[in-house]
Formats: sequence, structure tokens, C-alpha cells
Amino acid sequence: MRVLVTGGAGYIGSVVAGQLVAAGHDVTVLDDLSTGFADAVPPGATFVKGTLRDCAAEVLSDGIEAVLHFAAKSLVGESMAQPSLYWGNNLGGSLALLEAMRAAGTPRIVFSSTAAVYGEPETVPIDETAPTRPTSPYGGSKVAVDTALAEFARMYGLGAISLRYFNVAGAHPEAGRPGAGEAGSAVRWLGERHSPETHLIPNVLGVAQSVARGSGGHLTLFGDDYPTKDGTCIRDYIHVADLARAHLQALGACQPGQHRIYNLGSESGFSNLEVLAECRAVTGVDIPAEIGPRRPGDPAVLVASSARIRADLGWAPERDLRAMVADAWAATLAMAEPDRTP
Ligand SMILES: NC(=O)c1ccc[n+]([C@@H]2O[C@H](COP(=O)([O-])OP(=O)(O)OC[C@H]3O[C@@H](n4cnc5c(N)ncnc54)[C@H](O)[C@@H]3O)[C@@H](O)[C@H]2O)c1
Repeated sequence: MRVLVTGGAGYIGSVVAGQLVAAGHDVTVLDDLSTGFADAVPPGATFVKGTLRDCAAEVLSDGIEAVLHFAAKSLVGESMAQPSLYWGNNLGGSLALLEAMRAAGTPRIVFSSTAAVYGEPETVPIDETAPTRPTSPYGGSKVAVDTALAEFARMYGLGAISLRYFNVAGAHPEAGRPGAGEAGSAVRWLGERHSPETHLIPNVLGVAQSVARGSGGHLTLFGDDYPTKDGTCIRDYIHVADLARAHLQALGACQPGQHRIYNLGSESGFSNLEVLAECRAVTGVDIPAEIGPRRPGDPAVLVASSARIRADLGWAPERDLRAMVADAWAATLAMAEPDRTP
């Protein structure tokens, strides 16, 4: 299939683009490199550098059959400081993409939505029928795109699936590069390179790396007086490779005129202290940590119910927290090394 991956130079999009190339799809990546990296685009893919607004129409006019839409700004704090940036880029960019798809007759789209659409949940695990009450322009922009997808499905027959991810973690060896995986070939890891990095696991591993190098550092956990088993916040984590697999399954499941929503999580949350313990075990580094004050707006527990996608598509996560931390650590170490890939 001819597939457009928007945001395919970013963390998740690059892993999915690589898996699509490896599965034999004809992949075009559209990315403005605002937070992505050209070297993350799989070699087998065509890369177009540009924004959704400027380039989607031209790229789609070339016979693309499906879109995997990752391109977005995704920092909650930044969205609170610059809401217009998020409405313009995430909603405005997505509307430009949808309009270009309508004009070109592109029939299907899989969209990266987020747990942030739910805001403070009334019940956990959170299922797809929970009310959407985003507490940030970031979450608001994703709800708005979900709404637009439902309308494009109803009015123009688009086949659309929104995947609402909880916390994505881990890394994946690059697929799609000739020779990748063969004996003696260097493994290139696709992992998180966000700046600033707001996610717990890469931040804990960053401290581990700094301590291991003798540069010091420590981690601050935000609060230990939540009503949870050890007082720290509980979050649901999903390995980026499991997420990529869900995208490929969703791509095959889009039905004309339907917009479906699926949560993606593991249904079993981990506390911040449990994540810290796992990182200490994997790295062998006694990562120093202190408890700071709570962060405003942090719910105590965010855990997904993935029952709907299990029932409809037969998807289930396969990799546990140990695998996420181990792969993220391998990527952290590899990315610190000079690239020896030919
Ligand atoms: N990482 C997570 O834990 C997580 C959780 C929930 C949802 N998501 C969603 O998943 C998607 C991918 O997240 P990520 O962590 O890989 O982020 P990322 O920042 O690594 O990737 C996003 C990519 O989109 C590109 N981009 C942004 N705006 C663009 C535009 N207007 N035109 C073209 N390219 C543009 C960026 O350059 C970047 O390469 C995002 O939509 C995000 O909201 C991520």
C-alpha cells in the first residue's frame, strides 16, 4: 500500500515508518523537522521536508492510499504557554491534511490521539466512553481533531481510526535499512530524543547515564502523598513496538464512513517508584532520587482500558516494563556512541 506517514521523523512515527517499509509498503514521510530528525526516517522511505499546511496537498496528489498521522506538537506545558501554536499546528495542520485527503480521494487515516483528551478521570481504568475533558490546549487540540475525523467520516465517507495512547516508552532497532539485523551489522536504535524531555523513563535513564559517567545528577519525583500503594503517581506504559503493531493493524481495519476510537495501554499501571526501581535494576546504577512537591494537575492514577481494541482487532501489548526500560537504555547508550552505520 502507498502510505503517507506525517511526523515520520519523530519518535513514534519513525518506528512505525520503519515497520511499514519492512512490511513492504511504499512509504512517504512528511515532516517539518520542528521536533524530528531527518536521520530517523527509514532509508527505504521517501522523505519530504515541510509542513502539513504547505505540503500535504502535493504529497497526497501522488496516489497515496492511506495516512498515518503523527505530526503534532505534544508538550502539555508548552501548550499552556502558547495555546495558539497548538491550535494552529495540531488542529489547523490536521484540517489542512484532511482537506487535502478529501481533494485527493485518500480513503483512510489512523490518527495519534492521546490520553490527555480525558483530563482528570472519574473512574479508572479509563475506557473510550469516558467524557473528554482536556485540561490543556494540547489535549483540546486532539479532541478537536477526533471530532473533525468523525465529521469527515460521516460527510465524505473517510475511514478513520483514532488511537489514544497513554505513556509511550522504549525504543526499537531501526527496520528498513538494508542489512539491518544481519550478523555484524551495527544496530541503530530509534528512541526518544525529545527536547525538553518530559517523560519519566528517558529522564530517569538520563540521570543514570550522567551518574555512570561520573557527572552526577539526581531525579526529582513529584509528590509521594497520592492515594496510591506507595504514594507516587501511577501511569500506564506501552512499548513503542507494541504501539507500532497497533497502527499496522488499525490501518487494515479502517472502514469507509466510520470513525473508531481505541485506547492503547497495558491496563496495568506502574508507580513512579516502581519505574525508578526497574531503571535501577536494568542499568545497575544506584540512581539518586528525591521527592519534590506535587505538580499541579497531575491525577493520581491514569490507566487505560484497552478492552475495545483487544475485542475488535485482537491487539494486546506483548512487552512489559522491563523490556521498555531495557530497550530505552540500549538506545540511550547507542545514541551516545558515534554512528558507525555505513
Ligand atoms: N510520546 C508519547 O508518549 C505520546 C503519547 C500520546 C500521544 N502521542 C502523540 O503521538 C504523536 C507522535 O509523538 P512523538 O512522541 O513521536 O513526538 P515527536 O515530537 O517525536 O514527533 C512529532 C513529529 O511531527 C513533526 N511535526 C510537528 N508538527 C508538524 C507539522 N505541522 N508538519 C509536519 N511535521 C510536523 C515533528 O517534526 C516531529 O518529527 C504526536 O501526535 C503525539 O501527540 C505521543
